[in-house]
Amino acid sequence: MDQNYRLAIFASGKGSNAEAIIKYFKQHPSITIELIVSNNPQALVLERAKKYGIPTLVLNRRQFESEIAVKLSDYQITHIVLAGFLWLIPPSLLKAFPHKIINIHPALLPKFGGKGMYGMKIHQLVQSSNEKETGITIHVVDEKYDEGEILYQHKCEVVSEDTPEEIADRVHQLEYAWYPKIIERWILNRMESS
Ligand code: GAR
Repeated sequence: MDQNYRLAIFASGKGSNAEAIIKYFKQHPSITIELIVSNNPQALVLERAKKYGIPTLVLNRRQFESEIAVKLSDYQITHIVLAGFLWLIPPSLLKAFPHKIINIHPALLPKFGGKGMYGMKIHQLVQSSNEKETGITIHVVDEKYDEGEILYQHKCEVVSEDTPEEIADRVHQLEYAWYPKIIERWILNRMESS
């Protein structure tokens, strides 16, 4: 029998990556999006999940640290995808999902990574540091922010006239184009084809 992979997406905000992932796996033969988890009851990602009929879970910090592994097992989740999720993943969850949690970072790690490096703040820093290039990094999650094994990076150019918003747009397009594909290759053990 073919194996089924059941994903939970963790997101704190807008959820445009979450939506790109949901759309990509809609008709997938073996990978399904089963749950959206958020720390933020106002997050737009929750509206997006509703649109696709995907269950959502909003947890406060205490619940997240003590109950998340149990909740995920209720949904028989096999892999976790972080898509703009702000909180550090607790050790108990890393232990329950060893090498089964992946993240996207909107810069070329190890540059512009670490605690507090999130979303527009990164693009503003890329612009003010006169970087000539930026891009995306997709990596396995470990106990530190943005330090797990890098699975994939994709660059794009930055020119001096770029505004942070223009940089963000360019990086977002890379995210939507690549994150779903890399998730699929990672789960199906086909990383060599990236
Ligand atoms: C994305 O650009 C993602 O790479 C970034 O937050 C954005 C979320 O946008 N993640 C981080 O900065 C993690 N440190 P979205 O909610 O529209 O997908």
